[in-house]
Amino acid sequence: MPLPSSLQRAIEQEAGRYSAKDLNQAAAGLSAAYRAGEAESGAFITSDLHRLAYAAVRLPATFAAACAVMEEVRQRWSGPPLASLLDMGAGPGTAAWAAAAVFAELDSATLFEADEGLIALGKRLAQAGEQRLLAAAQWVRGDLRAPPALAPHDLVVSSYALGELREEEASEVVRAAWALTGQVLVLLEPGTVRGFGLLRRLREHLIGAGGQVLAPCPHQAACPLPAGDWCHFPARLERSRLHQRLKDGALGYEDEKYAYVAVARQGGLAAPARILRHPLRHAGHTELPLCTPAGLQRLTVTRSQKGAWKEARKAVWGDEWRGG
Ligand SMILES: C[S@@+](CC[C@H](N)C(=O)[O-])C[C@H]1O[C@@H](n2cnc3c(N)ncnc32)[C@H](O)[C@@H]1O
Repeated sequence: MPLPSSLQRAIEQEAGRYSAKDLNQAAAGLSAAYRAGEAESGAFITSDLHRLAYAAVRLPATFAAACAVMEEVRQRWSGPPLASLLDMGAGPGTAAWAAAAVFAELDSATLFEADEGLIALGKRLAQAGEQRLLAAAQWVRGDLRAPPALAPHDLVVSSYALGELREEEASEVVRAAWALTGQVLVLLEPGTVRGFGLLRRLREHLIGAGGQVLAPCPHQAACPLPAGDWCHFPARLERSRLHQRLKDGALGYEDEKYAYVAVARQGGLAAPARILRHPLRHAGHTELPLCTPAGLQRLTVTRSQKGAWKEARKAVWGDEWRGG
């Protein structure tokens, strides 16, 4: 799903307040911090210029990942309409923008964030962005580590924020997030070994607390992946001209790798199986690396298996697998 054009325009308008040179430097610093793994500690956003570089360079990618996850939740969720949203560690409001794009029934949003500058930027983007949910959102400044005194919300999301905390802190935040979840809790992190490892452990806590895993797992059992492997998915995003310039990128697109878990109180149906990597396509057969309720499986589908063959040729990494 592309970034809403009104949000894109609002980011470009904000970018006009800085020289191209300063913005390029801030974006390069941001990219270097991501490569060095420092970004996951949150130390990289130190000025308004960096906040805007985040909105121009990272927000499109985390938005693409959040949209992909929200789409999956929408497909799996069969409970009552999700009317209220809580975004924990909202930054400039990225995940709320994604949720608004996917769940038209959302009619109120609360965005919880520690950084005053990101809240100010998020509010300006929301006002310029012509998105009803965002324009009317309530922004709450606070520290996730001190459980926010808020009413439960139907849909609670934390996107690319838990990894900035120590693991014990992230566990406490998720305990509080679950208490504030009316229907569905979505945790989204970078698709790295670290991001996945954290989610894998948090998933166990949530199952222990009575949560039902909606996605990506096709089961409630312990994750069957061996040590060193990690469950993650790609989200492709088109780069705007501004994004391309700030990334010195020749490519008009990038693939954001993300890891996530969506857990419901009740209602909704997990996928029968999940495709964990790119299917391997050969002339007469396709191999599908699957996670299934019976564990990991490498399924070979041959041309003679008519229905399954057609499905397997279309299937992509991250899709559910119904068996054709
Ligand atoms: C990488 S940004 C992600 C922003 C946004 N959720 C997204 O997906 O693009 C992480 C955000 O979490 C916020 N954050 C980190 N630790 C926090 C805490 N203890 N309390 C509240 N917000 C926090 C940061 O200020 C930052 O806005």
